[in-house]
Amino acid sequence: MQNSEIIGILGAIPQEVNGIINLLKGTIEKKIGNRTYYEGYLGNQKVVVVYSRIGKVAAAVTVSTLLLEYKVSKIIFIGVAGGIHSDIKIGDVVVASNLVQYDMDASPLRPKYEIPLLGKTYFNTDQDWSHEIVSKINSLLQPETLSQHISKDELSKFEITAPKVHFGTIASGDQFFSTQNQKDTLHNSLPEVLCVEMEGAAIAQVCYEFNTPFIVIRTISDNANQEASFSFQSFVEEISLTYGKEIIKMIIE
Ligand code: ADE
Repeated sequence: MQNSEIIGILGAIPQEVNGIINLLKGTIEKKIGNRTYYEGYLGNQKVVVVYSRIGKVAAAVTVSTLLLEYKVSKIIFIGVAGGIHSDIKIGDVVVASNLVQYDMDASPLRPKYEIPLLGKTYFNTDQDWSHEIVSKINSLLQPETLSQHISKDELSKFEITAPKVHFGTIASGDQFFSTQNQKDTLHNSLPEVLCVEMEGAAIAQVCYEFNTPFIVIRTISDNANQEASFSFQSFVEEISLTYGKEIIKMIIE
């Protein structure tokens, strides 16, 4: 029996979704507004996969297209992020409980971080779905399971030994974090934030406004400091494709 509901799956860059696109059966490709959308099946589940490009505007227009053109009823965003909280290590996975746009500031008209005219600062993900995903990712991250998918050499290159899954707040904004100062400033102003990226909270706002359930899953590629650009680039080239593909296979199948 095929499932008639369609799930939209987004990453920001090709390396975050190419592994998933390669798994699709019966793929139909369509270009809309400078993006390529890949419609197909993962098992019995119809999905549309796309990379949004980087940043909040790119993410917002892409998720809106999934909702309006493809009528998807659920959204999964999968990708990488920079670790902010001291508990977070490269190779860990953060499943968002909620998301905030750390670069929104209409003060003194509205409190810092609040989205004007919406009166909201934090956008919740689908909590039941997210909890389900946390326990599935926990099994994937067991060292004996993970090493079936990623070689021990690759894992040790990034010092990934006992990766963990976390559930908490993700912050998004239009900046790549590559200095300790950026990291400290965010940590001091929003201490609950676990990691930083550039799309999730925009996806969250659009899904909230369209009343559509969504989840955001981020693997930590770097520590959002002076080594971030080096770590980010090697992580997305060597590891994130595998994490993305294995996580999505587990969620959908
Ligand atoms: N995504 C992955 N690493 C990041 C960083 N350091 N800053 C912003 N977004 C990221």
